[in-house]
Amino acid sequence: MDPESLDDYRAHGGYAALRRAVDLGPTRVMAEVSDASLTGRGGAAFPTGVKWDGVARAPERPHYLVCNADESEPGTFKDRVLMESDPFGLIEAMTIAAYVTGCEQGYLYVRGEYPLAIRRLEHAIGAARMRGHLGPDVMGEGSAFDIELRRGAGAYICGEETALLNSIEGFRGEPRNSRRSRR
Ligand SMILES: Cc1cc2nc3c(=O)[nH]c(=O)nc-3n(C[C@H](O)[C@H](O)[C@H](O)COP(=O)(O)O)c2cc1C
Repeated sequence: MDPESLDDYRAHGGYAALRRAVDLGPTRVMAEVSDASLTGRGGAAFPTGVKWDGVARAPERPHYLVCNADESEPGTFKDRVLMESDPFGLIEAMTIAAYVTGCEQGYLYVRGEYPLAIRRLEHAIGAARMRGHLGPDVMGEGSAFDIELRRGAGAYICGEETALLNSIEGFRGEPRNSRRSRR
């Protein structure tokens, strides 16, 4: 599959999952994710269904979706391979997660030392936007979602989720002691 071609991605079944998710609706997709026992890959094997459900139910608005692609653990490259070879797959997956959890804005926080992944993701985000797969009316289904790419500046600690959020918000990249931002 050509990682720089949305048409090629679609020819290989790309965006069929988002279409199916919209057909099922958020509640049923959430149940599928929970029943599948999908777990996070950040190290703690946290159940994805629990995380998504927590976001969807949170009364505070707006909801934000953050993809942790900092991947600074020495010797690891599982995220880099995915981002370089299947960037549209990641963007479609983020769009499905956003649809289910009610997020209109996504952040993709990528390790700064991944220039090829960054280039391909930037291209894929632009192509998805041009075709209406991201933006104010995703695939003509009435829900909005867009993604902003942020590059890490080489700090390992910014892979920790609360430090990562601080970094996105423009604060010092240090872990938080509470849910509130460090200002
Ligand atoms: C020092 C430190 C560095 C971390 N770096 C990463 C990282 O590079 N990528 C990542 O996905 N999670 C990293 N984590 C774990 C995150 O805090 C968080 O648990 C994870 O992003 C949750 O994603 P998941 O649900 O997919 O597991 C790190 C944690 C610590 C304490």
